[in-house]
Amino acid sequence: MTHIAIFASGAGSNALKIIEAFAHSPRAKVSLIVCNKAGAGVLQIAENKQIATILLDKEQFFRGNAYTSELKAFSIDLIVLAGFLWKVPPALIRAYPGKIINIHPALLPKYGGRGMYGHHVHQAVIDHKEKESGITIHYVDELYDHGNIIFQARCPVLPEDTPETLAKRIHQLEHTHYPRVIGELVS
Ligand code: GRF
Repeated sequence: MTHIAIFASGAGSNALKIIEAFAHSPRAKVSLIVCNKAGAGVLQIAENKQIATILLDKEQFFRGNAYTSELKAFSIDLIVLAGFLWKVPPALIRAYPGKIINIHPALLPKYGGRGMYGHHVHQAVIDHKEKESGITIHYVDELYDHGNIIFQARCPVLPEDTPETLAKRIHQLEHTHYPRVIGELVS
């Protein structure tokens, strides 16, 4: 059984889709939700789904053990970032080599890096008059949105798109592909 920890900072719509996708799987399960923001929607999802949570303390995360002992205590094998807005510290990357993945709401390597999250990404894509955007699922390394790409899916950017309408289209791609790609990684 692969034990998955989802790291998230926000609403948790991706986390919910992943939890549901593996709810009856013999191969993997979401065993832990890790969050850096008290009151985030993802924590309510964890409570509803009776999944353990860790609320990160910034000092311990960046200057301490990066919660590696807590993750090992939950037998975590795979870390899935789903809207997690802090950079992953080297201590955690060392503890989980090739076992931390992220989803970015654009076609990396463009429109990635520090500060490129949520509507900022979609606004930049629209401002640059891109004809398409999409999602990138990638391995996590010490830099933001930089590790090897695992999967990408594309969607059109329409002339009348706003960051909100584009975000909605991108979220649909995320919800379709992230659980499936994780399933391929754990099989
Ligand atoms: C998603 O757009 C994802 O691509 C990005 O953060 C957002 C998380 O959304 N990394 P949600 O909290 O899963 O709804």
